[in-house]
Amino acid sequence: MDIAVIGSNMVDLISYINAMPKEGETLEAPDFKIGCGGKGANQAVAAAKMGSKVMMVTKVGADLFADNTIQNLEAFGIDTEFTTKMVGTSSGVAPIFVDQESKNRILIIKGANEQLLPSDVDHAAEKLKTASLIVLQLEIPLPTVYRAIDFGSEHNIPVILNPAPASKELDFNYVCKSDFFIPNESELEILTGMPVATGEQIREAASNLIKKGVKNVIVTMGSRGVMWITKEKNETVASQKVTAVDTTGAGDAFIGCFAHFFVENGDVLQAIKKATAFAGLSVTKRGTQSSYPTSMELEAFLTSLN
Ligand code: RIB
Repeated sequence: MDIAVIGSNMVDLISYINAMPKEGETLEAPDFKIGCGGKGANQAVAAAKMGSKVMMVTKVGADLFADNTIQNLEAFGIDTEFTTKMVGTSSGVAPIFVDQESKNRILIIKGANEQLLPSDVDHAAEKLKTASLIVLQLEIPLPTVYRAIDFGSEHNIPVILNPAPASKELDFNYVCKSDFFIPNESELEILTGMPVATGEQIREAASNLIKKGVKNVIVTMGSRGVMWITKEKNETVASQKVTAVDTTGAGDAFIGCFAHFFVENGDVLQAIKKATAFAGLSVTKRGTQSSYPTSMELEAFLTSLN
């Protein structure tokens, strides 16, 4: 197994809006799209689309969304042996609002994702041990995230921790135990309490984490690119100029694609460059997983940049 994603899945209910209604107001919005999402599933799909062998440890509810979510993962070749249906609960859903500037606001109702427990990591142990990389986000209970990080340490498997959505309760010892910590700017701000308005401020906040013992901090900054900070390195990869129509799931696109190329050859900077282009392409289409390019589209885009 190349990559094990232990994390969330959601059904994305995306409204394309001209304005948010005020209290008591009813407003018409021009468009709506339903799709498979969830930060974990998005990252799994991005990696699988690039050609990685991916497994997902996740939970769906016992409702009309469940089978569709499992079938969708399987359609991308993702191993769903440890994707479990939970009786008596709903699947995770995410009402999303995308405005005319292609910016998004996301609500999550975690549903079955809330029931992904540390014991589920142990239950999947034999298959997880075969993974070259574990990928985690924060839409599942923190004890499960911690168990997965410990599992990675016990079995010498590198771990990516994407602290999304940001939680101030995140135990910093586990941030240090992960190999790659990948927040966006707003998550970095919440988790460090430091300002992130400028590139210099982002660098300072990320460097602060490095001083406290984090190994690799990779900050995704949207149109401003991606910053990679370690004790020795301080690199910024620019993002390509594209016409954005929907930025939802771009961070997940980056992480899944980065995971694939990191496992493929271990070259972090190269993986960041390819993942930045992949995420850039994803914002040119609507939806989350449905906006992710194929590896041929990514290669064509990379070639066009040279
Ligand atoms: O990062 C985007 C994702 O966040 C959406 O797919 C939504 O489901 C939420 O999890």
